[in-house]
Amino acid sequence: MEIEYNPKYPLVKDLRAKAKKRIPGFAFDYLDGGCNEEVNLIKNTAEIRDVELKPFYLKKYIGSDMRTELFGHVYDAPFGIAPVGLQGLMWPNSPEILAKAAFDHNIPFVLSTVTTSSIETISEITQGRAWFQLYHPTEDKLRDALINRAAEAQCPVLILVCDVPTFGYRPREIRSGLAMPPRMSLKNVLQIFGKPNWALQTLYHGKPQFVNMKPYIPKGQNVRDLGRTMNKTFTGRLNEEKIAPIRDMWKGKLVLKGVASEEDAEMAVRLGLDGIIVSNHGGRQLDAGQSTIKSMEAIAPKFKEKIKLMMDGGMRSGPDIARTLAKGAEFTFMGRAFMYGVAALGNAGGNHTISILKIQLQQIMEQICCEKIEDLPRHLISK
Ligand SMILES: Cc1cc2nc3c(=O)[nH]c(=O)nc-3n(C[C@H](O)[C@H](O)[C@H](O)COP(=O)(O)O)c2cc1C
Repeated sequence: MEIEYNPKYPLVKDLRAKAKKRIPGFAFDYLDGGCNEEVNLIKNTAEIRDVELKPFYLKKYIGSDMRTELFGHVYDAPFGIAPVGLQGLMWPNSPEILAKAAFDHNIPFVLSTVTTSSIETISEITQGRAWFQLYHPTEDKLRDALINRAAEAQCPVLILVCDVPTFGYRPREIRSGLAMPPRMSLKNVLQIFGKPNWALQTLYHGKPQFVNMKPYIPKGQNVRDLGRTMNKTFTGRLNEEKIAPIRDMWKGKLVLKGVASEEDAEMAVRLGLDGIIVSNHGGRQLDAGQSTIKSMEAIAPKFKEKIKLMMDGGMRSGPDIARTLAKGAEFTFMGRAFMYGVAALGNAGGNHTISILKIQLQQIMEQICCEKIEDLPRHLISK
Protein backbone atom coordinates (compact mmCIF):
# COMPACT_ATOMS: atom_id res chain seq x y z
CA MET A 1 0.00 0.00 0.00
CA GLU A 2 1.21 3.48 -0.92
CA ILE A 3 2.23 5.50 2.08
CA GLU A 4 0.16 8.66 1.69
CA TYR A 5 -0.29 11.42 4.19
CA ASN A 6 -1.25 15.03 4.54
CA PRO A 7 1.83 17.02 5.66
CA LYS A 8 -0.35 19.36 7.72
CA TYR A 9 -0.93 16.59 10.27
CA PRO A 10 2.33 14.74 10.94
CA LEU A 11 1.31 13.75 14.50
CA VAL A 12 -1.76 12.12 16.05
CA LYS A 13 -2.04 15.16 18.30
CA ASP A 14 -2.49 17.33 15.17
CA LEU A 15 -5.35 15.04 14.12
CA ARG A 16 -6.88 15.30 17.59
CA ALA A 17 -6.77 19.11 17.43
CA LYS A 18 -8.37 19.10 13.97
CA ALA A 19 -11.02 16.58 15.08
CA LYS A 20 -11.94 18.81 18.00
CA LYS A 21 -12.58 21.70 15.61
CA ARG A 22 -14.49 19.61 13.09
CA ILE A 23 -17.01 17.56 15.08
CA PRO A 24 -19.62 18.56 17.71
CA GLY A 25 -18.46 18.73 21.33
CA PHE A 26 -20.60 15.79 22.48
CA ALA A 27 -19.06 13.53 19.80
CA PHE A 28 -15.51 14.70 20.57
CA ASP A 29 -16.04 14.23 24.32
CA TYR A 30 -17.40 10.72 23.79
CA LEU A 31 -14.24 9.82 21.84
CA ASP A 32 -11.65 11.72 23.81
CA GLY A 33 -12.84 11.30 27.39
CA GLY A 34 -11.97 8.88 30.16
CA CYS A 35 -13.64 8.10 33.47
CA ASN A 36 -13.72 10.16 36.65
CA GLU A 37 -10.72 12.53 36.81
CA GLU A 38 -9.11 10.92 33.74
CA VAL A 39 -6.04 9.88 35.76
CA ASN A 40 -5.90 6.45 34.13
CA LEU A 41 -6.33 7.95 30.66
CA ILE A 42 -3.41 10.33 31.17
CA LYS A 43 -1.20 7.69 32.82
CA ASN A 44 -1.66 5.31 29.88
CA THR A 45 0.29 7.61 27.56
CA ALA A 46 2.59 9.21 30.16
CA GLU A 47 3.92 5.91 31.49
CA ILE A 48 4.51 4.47 28.02
CA ARG A 49 6.66 7.55 27.43
CA ASP A 50 8.76 6.79 30.51
CA VAL A 51 10.06 3.78 28.58
CA GLU A 52 13.43 4.49 26.96
CA LEU A 53 15.18 2.67 24.13
CA LYS A 54 18.86 2.54 23.39
CA PRO A 55 20.42 2.70 19.93
CA PHE A 56 23.31 0.55 18.73
CA TYR A 57 24.82 2.85 16.11
CA LEU A 58 27.88 0.78 15.36
CA LYS A 59 26.16 -2.60 15.04
CA LYS A 60 26.13 -4.34 11.65
CA TYR A 61 22.82 -3.51 10.00
CA ILE A 62 21.03 -4.91 6.98
CA GLY A 63 17.65 -3.14 7.23
CA SER A 64 14.44 -3.07 9.26
CA ASP A 65 11.27 -5.04 8.62
CA MET A 66 8.17 -4.39 10.73
CA ARG A 67 6.10 -7.24 9.33
CA THR A 68 4.71 -9.34 12.18
CA GLU A 69 3.14 -12.78 12.26
CA LEU A 70 0.03 -13.10 14.41
CA PHE A 71 -2.35 -16.06 14.52
CA GLY A 72 -1.02 -17.45 11.26
CA HIS A 73 -1.22 -14.22 9.24
CA VAL A 74 1.74 -11.97 8.45
CA TYR A 75 0.64 -8.36 8.96
CA ASP A 76 2.54 -5.43 7.42
CA ALA A 77 2.89 -3.71 10.81
CA PRO A 78 2.66 -4.73 14.48
CA PHE A 79 -0.44 -2.66 15.18
CA GLY A 80 -4.17 -2.85 14.52
CA ILE A 81 -7.38 -0.88 14.93
CA ALA A 82 -9.12 -1.52 18.27
CA PRO A 83 -12.91 -1.91 18.53
CA VAL A 84 -14.72 1.38 19.10
CA GLY A 85 -18.47 1.67 19.64
CA LEU A 86 -20.74 4.15 17.86
CA GLN A 87 -18.01 5.20 15.40
CA GLY A 88 -20.49 6.80 13.01
CA LEU A 89 -21.18 9.45 15.64
CA MET A 90 -17.68 10.88 15.15
CA TRP A 91 -17.86 10.66 11.35
CA PRO A 92 -20.29 8.85 9.03
CA ASN A 93 -18.95 5.54 7.71
CA SER A 94 -15.95 5.55 10.07
CA PRO A 95 -15.95 1.75 10.45
CA GLU A 96 -16.06 1.29 6.68
CA ILE A 97 -13.31 3.89 6.14
CA LEU A 98 -11.05 2.30 8.75
CA ALA A 99 -11.76 -1.28 7.68
CA LYS A 100 -10.80 -0.42 4.09
CA ALA A 101 -7.62 1.37 5.16
CA ALA A 102 -6.69 -1.54 7.45
CA PHE A 103 -7.26 -4.00 4.62
CA ASP A 104 -5.20 -1.93 2.17
CA HIS A 105 -2.35 -1.67 4.67
CA ASN A 106 -2.67 -5.32 5.74
CA ILE A 107 -3.25 -4.63 9.43
CA PRO A 108 -6.12 -6.00 11.56
CA PHE A 109 -9.38 -4.10 12.02
CA VAL A 110 -11.60 -5.09 14.96
CA LEU A 111 -15.34 -4.45 14.69
CA SER A 112 -17.19 -3.62 17.91
CA THR A 113 -20.58 -5.26 18.62
CA VAL A 114 -22.03 -1.80 19.22
CA THR A 115 -20.67 0.17 16.31
CA THR A 116 -22.43 1.53 13.27
CA SER A 117 -21.62 -1.05 10.61
CA SER A 118 -22.46 -4.72 10.33
CA ILE A 119 -20.27 -7.80 10.60
CA GLU A 120 -21.24 -8.71 7.03
CA THR A 121 -20.40 -5.31 5.49
CA ILE A 122 -17.02 -5.13 7.21
CA SER A 123 -16.21 -8.72 6.33
CA GLU A 124 -16.88 -7.93 2.68
CA ILE A 125 -14.65 -4.85 2.76
CA THR A 126 -11.82 -6.78 4.40
CA GLN A 127 -12.35 -10.01 2.44
CA GLY A 128 -12.98 -11.93 5.65
CA ARG A 129 -9.98 -10.55 7.54
CA ALA A 130 -11.73 -8.36 10.14
CA TRP A 131 -11.84 -9.52 13.75
CA PHE A 132 -15.05 -9.26 15.78
CA GLN A 133 -15.38 -8.04 19.38
CA LEU A 134 -18.33 -9.47 21.28
CA TYR A 135 -20.01 -7.81 24.23
CA HIS A 136 -21.51 -10.73 26.05
CA PRO A 137 -25.29 -10.87 25.51
CA THR A 138 -27.55 -11.68 28.44
CA GLU A 139 -29.44 -14.27 26.39
CA ASP A 140 -27.61 -17.35 25.05
CA LYS A 141 -29.75 -17.18 21.92
CA LEU A 142 -28.37 -13.76 20.98
CA ARG A 143 -24.83 -14.81 21.92
CA ASP A 144 -25.09 -17.78 19.55
CA ALA A 145 -26.62 -15.67 16.78
CA LEU A 146 -23.80 -13.10 16.89
CA ILE A 147 -21.09 -15.75 17.11
CA ASN A 148 -22.59 -17.65 14.18
CA ARG A 149 -22.72 -14.46 12.11
CA ALA A 150 -19.04 -13.80 12.88
CA ALA A 151 -18.17 -17.39 11.89
CA GLU A 152 -20.19 -17.18 8.67
CA ALA A 153 -18.46 -13.89 7.85
CA GLN A 154 -15.13 -15.76 8.25
CA CYS A 155 -13.83 -13.58 11.09
CA PRO A 156 -10.54 -15.23 12.04
CA VAL A 157 -10.49 -13.90 15.61
CA LEU A 158 -13.22 -13.34 18.21
CA ILE A 159 -12.51 -10.98 21.09
CA LEU A 160 -14.34 -11.16 24.43
CA VAL A 161 -14.20 -8.07 26.64
CA CYS A 162 -13.89 -8.42 30.40
CA ASP A 163 -13.31 -4.84 31.55
CA VAL A 164 -16.85 -3.46 31.33
CA PRO A 165 -18.60 -5.28 34.22
CA THR A 166 -20.44 -2.01 34.83
CA PHE A 167 -20.65 1.32 33.00
CA GLY A 168 -17.72 3.67 33.54
CA TYR A 169 -18.45 6.95 35.34
CA ARG A 170 -17.60 9.41 32.56
CA PRO A 171 -18.12 13.05 33.51
CA ARG A 172 -17.76 14.40 29.97
CA GLU A 173 -20.56 12.14 28.76
CA ILE A 174 -22.68 12.97 31.80
CA ARG A 175 -22.25 16.70 31.12
CA SER A 176 -23.13 16.43 27.45
CA GLY A 177 -26.07 14.14 28.22
CA LEU A 178 -24.66 11.56 25.90
CA ALA A 179 -26.85 8.52 25.73
CA MET A 180 -26.28 5.86 23.10
CA PRO A 181 -27.24 7.35 20.60
CA PRO A 182 -27.08 10.98 21.81
CA ARG A 183 -30.11 12.92 23.01
CA MET A 184 -30.81 16.00 20.96
CA SER A 185 -30.79 18.58 23.75
CA LEU A 186 -30.70 22.27 22.82
CA LYS A 187 -27.00 22.36 23.74
CA ASN A 188 -26.22 19.43 21.46
CA VAL A 189 -28.25 20.90 18.60
CA LEU A 190 -26.32 24.18 18.92
CA GLN A 191 -23.05 22.24 18.80
CA ILE A 192 -24.20 20.60 15.57
CA PHE A 193 -24.94 24.00 14.01
CA GLY A 194 -21.36 24.99 14.79
CA LYS A 195 -20.00 22.06 12.73
CA PRO A 196 -21.63 22.34 9.29
CA ASN A 197 -19.28 19.86 7.64
CA TRP A 198 -20.13 17.12 10.15
CA ALA A 199 -23.83 18.06 10.07
CA LEU A 200 -24.07 17.84 6.27
CA GLN A 201 -22.24 14.53 6.12
CA THR A 202 -24.41 13.11 8.91
CA LEU A 203 -27.58 14.36 7.28
CA TYR A 204 -26.50 12.80 4.00
CA HIS A 205 -25.59 9.41 5.48
CA GLY A 206 -28.36 9.26 8.11
CA LYS A 207 -28.08 9.18 11.89
CA PRO A 208 -25.71 6.56 13.33
CA GLN A 209 -27.37 3.29 14.32
CA PHE A 210 -26.35 0.07 16.08
CA VAL A 211 -26.45 -1.81 12.79
CA ASN A 212 -25.31 -5.18 14.17
CA MET A 213 -28.11 -5.18 16.68
CA LYS A 214 -30.91 -4.13 14.31
CA PRO A 215 -32.36 -7.63 13.79
CA TYR A 216 -32.75 -8.12 17.55
CA ILE A 217 -34.10 -4.73 18.64
CA PRO A 218 -37.85 -4.04 18.48
CA LYS A 219 -38.67 -1.57 15.70
CA GLY A 220 -39.85 1.97 16.35
CA GLN A 221 -38.23 2.42 19.78
CA ASN A 222 -37.55 5.95 20.89
CA VAL A 223 -34.05 6.88 22.03
CA ARG A 224 -34.75 6.24 25.73
CA ASP A 225 -36.25 2.82 25.08
CA LEU A 226 -33.33 1.93 22.85
CA GLY A 227 -30.82 2.79 25.61
CA ARG A 228 -32.74 0.59 28.05
CA THR A 229 -32.92 -2.27 25.55
CA MET A 230 -29.15 -2.12 24.97
CA ASN A 231 -28.48 -2.13 28.73
CA LYS A 232 -30.66 -5.19 29.18
CA THR A 233 -29.22 -6.93 26.13
CA PHE A 234 -25.63 -7.15 27.35
CA THR A 235 -24.00 -8.26 30.54
CA GLY A 236 -20.44 -7.05 30.75
CA ARG A 237 -19.45 -9.28 33.66
CA LEU A 238 -17.56 -12.27 32.33
CA ASN A 239 -16.51 -15.39 34.17
CA GLU A 240 -15.40 -18.96 33.56
CA GLU A 241 -18.99 -20.18 33.03
CA LYS A 242 -19.56 -17.63 30.27
CA ILE A 243 -16.20 -18.04 28.53
CA ALA A 244 -15.95 -21.86 28.49
CA PRO A 245 -18.98 -22.50 26.19
CA ILE A 246 -17.71 -19.85 23.77
CA ARG A 247 -14.34 -21.58 23.66
CA ASP A 248 -16.17 -24.81 22.73
CA MET A 249 -18.31 -23.10 20.13
CA TRP A 250 -15.77 -20.84 18.39
CA LYS A 251 -13.41 -22.63 16.03
CA GLY A 252 -11.21 -19.59 15.27
CA LYS A 253 -8.79 -17.80 17.58
CA LEU A 254 -10.28 -16.54 20.82
CA VAL A 255 -8.86 -13.51 22.64
CA LEU A 256 -9.69 -11.92 26.00
CA LYS A 257 -9.49 -8.10 26.02
CA GLY A 258 -9.30 -5.97 29.14
CA VAL A 259 -6.81 -8.07 31.09
CA ALA A 260 -5.08 -6.01 33.76
CA SER A 261 -4.08 -8.64 36.33
CA GLU A 262 -2.02 -11.81 36.45
CA GLU A 263 -5.08 -13.59 37.89
CA ASP A 264 -7.19 -12.88 34.79
CA ALA A 265 -4.28 -13.75 32.49
CA GLU A 266 -3.95 -17.07 34.31
CA MET A 267 -7.65 -17.77 33.80
CA ALA A 268 -7.33 -17.01 30.07
CA VAL A 269 -4.52 -19.57 29.81
CA ARG A 270 -6.49 -22.13 31.82
CA LEU A 271 -9.55 -21.72 29.59
CA GLY A 272 -7.46 -22.39 26.50
CA LEU A 273 -7.71 -18.93 24.97
CA ASP A 274 -5.25 -18.00 22.23
CA GLY A 275 -4.37 -14.48 23.29
CA ILE A 276 -4.96 -11.63 25.69
CA ILE A 277 -5.10 -7.91 25.11
CA VAL A 278 -3.75 -6.12 28.15
CA SER A 279 -6.08 -3.14 28.21
CA ASN A 280 -8.00 -0.83 30.52
CA HIS A 281 -10.51 0.26 27.87
CA GLY A 282 -8.46 3.35 27.14
CA GLY A 283 -8.90 4.71 30.68
CA ARG A 284 -12.68 4.73 30.39
CA GLN A 285 -13.54 2.32 33.21
CA LEU A 286 -11.20 2.28 36.27
CA ASP A 287 -9.56 5.57 37.13
CA ALA A 288 -7.76 4.00 40.09
CA GLY A 289 -6.23 1.31 37.89
CA GLN A 290 -2.71 0.86 36.57
CA SER A 291 -1.61 2.12 33.17
CA THR A 292 -1.58 -0.68 30.62
CA ILE A 293 2.21 -0.53 30.24
CA LYS A 294 2.55 -1.21 33.99
CA SER A 295 0.14 -4.15 33.77
CA MET A 296 2.15 -5.41 30.79
CA GLU A 297 5.37 -5.14 32.78
CA ALA A 298 3.93 -7.52 35.38
CA ILE A 299 2.19 -9.89 32.96
CA ALA A 300 4.80 -10.24 30.18
CA PRO A 301 7.56 -12.12 32.01
CA LYS A 302 5.14 -14.74 33.40
CA PHE A 303 2.91 -15.27 30.37
CA LYS A 304 4.98 -14.67 27.25
CA GLU A 305 5.55 -18.37 26.63
CA LYS A 306 1.97 -19.33 27.49
CA ILE A 307 -0.30 -17.09 25.43
CA LYS A 308 -0.12 -14.39 22.73
CA LEU A 309 0.38 -11.04 24.45
CA MET A 310 -1.14 -7.89 22.96
CA MET A 311 -1.74 -4.45 24.45
CA ASP A 312 -3.72 -1.29 23.84
CA GLY A 313 -4.18 2.03 25.62
CA GLY A 314 -2.33 5.32 25.36
CA MET A 315 -0.31 4.83 22.18
CA ARG A 316 -0.32 7.86 19.89
CA SER A 317 2.85 7.42 17.81
CA GLY A 318 5.40 5.05 16.31
CA PRO A 319 7.77 5.55 19.25
CA ASP A 320 4.90 4.65 21.64
CA ILE A 321 4.33 1.43 19.68
CA ALA A 322 8.07 0.63 19.77
CA ARG A 323 8.22 1.24 23.53
CA THR A 324 5.23 -1.03 24.11
CA LEU A 325 6.70 -3.84 22.01
CA ALA A 326 10.03 -3.42 23.81
CA LYS A 327 8.19 -4.00 27.10
CA GLY A 328 6.96 -7.41 25.96
CA ALA A 329 3.79 -6.91 23.91
CA GLU A 330 3.90 -8.95 20.70
CA PHE A 331 1.26 -6.84 18.97
CA THR A 332 -0.51 -3.55 19.72
CA PHE A 333 -3.85 -1.88 19.10
CA MET A 334 -5.03 1.72 19.17
CA GLY A 335 -8.54 3.12 19.45
CA ARG A 336 -8.55 6.92 19.61
CA ALA A 337 -5.59 7.56 17.28
CA PHE A 338 -7.46 6.18 14.26
CA MET A 339 -10.76 7.79 15.20
CA TYR A 340 -9.07 11.20 15.54
CA GLY A 341 -7.75 10.60 12.03
CA VAL A 342 -11.17 9.93 10.53
CA ALA A 343 -12.88 12.71 12.51
CA ALA A 344 -10.19 15.12 11.26
CA LEU A 345 -9.82 14.01 7.64
CA GLY A 346 -12.90 11.93 6.78
CA ASN A 347 -12.26 9.36 4.04
CA ALA A 348 -8.52 10.06 3.97
CA GLY A 349 -8.16 9.68 7.76
CA GLY A 350 -7.61 5.91 7.92
CA ASN A 351 -4.85 5.80 5.33
CA HIS A 352 -3.24 8.95 6.73
CA THR A 353 -3.10 7.71 10.32
CA ILE A 354 -1.80 4.26 9.44
CA SER A 355 0.80 5.85 7.16
CA ILE A 356 2.24 8.24 9.74
CA LEU A 357 2.41 5.48 12.37
CA LYS A 358 4.22 3.18 9.93
CA ILE A 359 6.70 5.91 8.94
CA GLN A 360 7.43 6.78 12.59
CA LEU A 361 7.90 3.13 13.55
CA GLN A 362 10.15 2.46 10.54
CA GLN A 363 12.25 5.51 11.40
CA ILE A 364 12.73 4.48 15.02
CA MET A 365 13.70 0.92 14.04
CA GLU A 366 16.29 2.26 11.59
CA GLN A 367 17.51 4.77 14.15
CA ILE A 368 18.20 2.25 16.91
CA CYS A 369 19.44 -0.48 14.53
CA CYS A 370 16.58 -2.88 15.11
CA GLU A 371 15.97 -5.29 12.25
CA LYS A 372 12.90 -7.17 13.48
CA ILE A 373 9.97 -6.34 15.74
CA GLU A 374 10.79 -9.20 18.12
CA ASP A 375 14.26 -7.65 18.67
CA LEU A 376 12.82 -4.47 20.22
CA PRO A 377 13.09 -5.79 23.82
CA ARG A 378 16.90 -5.86 23.37
CA HIS A 379 16.81 -2.07 23.10
CA LEU A 380 14.95 -1.57 26.37
CA ILE A 381 16.81 0.48 28.97
CA SER A 382 15.85 -1.17 32.25
CA LYS A 383 15.46 1.08 35.22
C1 LIG B 1 -14.93 6.09 22.01
C2 LIG B 1 -14.48 4.71 22.40
C3 LIG B 1 -15.36 3.66 22.30
C4 LIG B 1 -14.93 2.38 22.63
N1 LIG B 1 -15.79 1.32 22.43
C5 LIG B 1 -15.34 0.07 22.63
C6 LIG B 1 -16.16 -1.05 22.29
O1 LIG B 1 -17.27 -0.92 21.79
N2 LIG B 1 -15.67 -2.27 22.55
C7 LIG B 1 -14.42 -2.47 23.08
O2 LIG B 1 -14.00 -3.61 23.28
N3 LIG B 1 -13.63 -1.44 23.39
C8 LIG B 1 -14.04 -0.18 23.15
N4 LIG B 1 -13.21 0.87 23.41
C9 LIG B 1 -11.84 0.62 23.91
C10 LIG B 1 -10.87 0.42 22.75
O3 LIG B 1 -11.09 -0.81 22.12
C11 LIG B 1 -9.41 0.41 23.25
O4 LIG B 1 -9.28 -0.49 24.33
C12 LIG B 1 -8.95 1.80 23.69
O5 LIG B 1 -9.44 2.79 22.83
C13 LIG B 1 -7.42 1.85 23.71
O6 LIG B 1 -6.96 3.06 24.16
P1 LIG B 1 -6.52 4.28 23.20
O7 LIG B 1 -7.79 4.91 22.73
O8 LIG B 1 -5.73 5.14 24.10
O9 LIG B 1 -5.73 3.70 22.05
C14 LIG B 1 -13.61 2.16 23.11
C15 LIG B 1 -12.73 3.25 23.21
C16 LIG B 1 -13.15 4.52 22.85
C17 LIG B 1 -12.16 5.65 22.93
